[in-house]
Amino acid sequence: PFNCSLMSVCMLALLQMCQGSGFVKSPMSETKLTGDTFELYCDVIGNPTPEIQWWYAEINRADSFKLLWDGARKRRVSINTAYGANGVSVLGVTRLTLEDSGTYECRASNDKRRNELRENPANTWIRAQATISVLQKPKINATDQIILSADSASKPVTLQCNLTTAHTPHQESFWMKNGKEITNTRTEHRSTLYRITKPRADVSGEYMCVYTFGMAPNANATIEVKAKPDVTGHKRSENKNEGEDAMMYCKSVGYPHPTWIKKDICDIDNSTGRFFITSRDNYTELNIINLDIKTDPGVYQCNASNVIGNTAQTTILRVRSHLAPLWPFLGVLAEIIILVVIIVVYEKRKKPDDFIDDDEPVGPMKTNSTNNHKDKNIRQRNMK
Ligand SMILES: *[C@@H]1O[C@H](CO)[C@@H](O)[C@H](O)[C@H]1NC(C)=O
Ligand SMILES: *[C@@H]1O[C@H](CO)[C@@H](O)[C@H](O)[C@H]1NC(C)=O
Ligand SMILES: *[C@@H]1O[C@H](CO)[C@@H](O)[C@H](O)[C@H]1NC(C)=O
Ligand SMILES: *[C@@H]1O[C@H](CO)[C@@H](O)[C@H](O)[C@H]1NC(C)=O
Ligand SMILES: *[C@@H]1O[C@H](CO)[C@@H](O)[C@H](O)[C@H]1NC(C)=O
Ligand SMILES: *[C@@H]1O[C@H](CO)[C@@H](O)[C@H](O)[C@H]1NC(C)=O
Repeated sequence: PFNCSLMSVCMLALLQMCQGSGFVKSPMSETKLTGDTFELYCDVIGNPTPEIQWWYAEINRADSFKLLWDGARKRRVSINTAYGANGVSVLGVTRLTLEDSGTYECRASNDKRRNELRENPANTWIRAQATISVLQKPKINATDQIILSADSASKPVTLQCNLTTAHTPHQESFWMKNGKEITNTRTEHRSTLYRITKPRADVSGEYMCVYTFGMAPNANATIEVKAKPDVTGHKRSENKNEGEDAMMYCKSVGYPHPTWIKKDICDIDNSTGRFFITSRDNYTELNIINLDIKTDPGVYQCNASNVIGNTAQTTILRVRSHLAPLWPFLGVLAEIIILVVIIVVYEKRKKPDDFIDDDEPVGPMKTNSTNNHKDKNIRQRNMK
């Protein structure tokens, strides 16, 4: 921290001494294709904070710079500048044409005399330049989008790109699927093929042929391969107790990800906030926490659909009561109670006949117990 603050103090002193400003970041030269966009950055330090301007000169006309403003060239030019400790500015030009080629200059100054006409701007403004070259975008003739049908799984599908016009000869070409290069597809030919031998739902996606050039940006064309999404795996049923959490999933191919619905009400009622859906790649999970025995049981459907069609699979959720595990025990208890009742009733009916017999054994038992007591006392006394 000490070194850092010391350095900024030194720098500030240096700047104040010569009242100047300096570039922290200056614009970089680039080659672009027609229809694309470029952005140039300029970051200037100085005290006071320098003012920033953007100027433009056509190629080979470096003597005639013109000031650029936000909204110039039919609103294709945008300039966004922020003044803080530094002055930072971004120049953007969209929908490029060949006429946008040229020299772009970032000028910065905090000199008090910077806008006086008598002063030569070269003395009061610092300048940084970048050259933008705009080339005609190469033309690629590519196969139209392909829609795979369920019964076309056996017929191979071929994607083709022909580079028809190019500003300079290309170097090589390769294929990409969903933004990733497909290995072993690099060739040097103007015409390139990609063969899908087993076109199932999982080959669907965004394919792109890319041509590379020595000093210019890549050119590319996109071919969409669409297929009806397919649910390839799911849970058939889930059995849980009320209050527990349930997890149901389904695996699918194709995009977008499947959605979950509940068959009897068509939509999941999430007013209690207990439903959570997570999706990644080809796997979608529905989690329900703190199961409710009244509202949650039923048929849940994982529904994969896109513009081509839809596929759905169902999972049955069963929720048991808290008391469920007690039922076998309660059954036994009920049996015991019934038995006891039967015995008691039976015994009561027998009573009048056996009245004397019942009473007799009680007497001797009592005497026995007192006898035992006496014996014990005697034994204990003897021991003392
Ligand atoms: C592009 O290809 C189609 C056939 O696939 C053809 O009819 C058309 O003329 C081609 N265009 C160019 C510019 O080569
Ligand atoms: C590419 O060019 C070849 C002949 O050079 C032609 O047969 C094919 O149809 C073209 N493909 C496209 C997609 O234009
Ligand atoms: C494809 O072309 C577009 C337009 O020129 C460009 O913005 C993009 O970066 C290119 N993509 C690849 C992977 O080359
Ligand atoms: C349900 O509500 C919770 C909490 O508000 C939220 O986090 C969750 O994403 C919602 N789930 C669904 C499927 O909308
Ligand atoms: C799902 O994606 C994983 C990798 O993300 C892959 O290994 C698996 O084969 C895929 N499953 C299906 C059914 O497509
Ligand atoms: C799946 O969802 C889509 C759109 O929500 C609907 O049109 C379609 O009927 C559903 N599919 C099934 C099998 O229920």
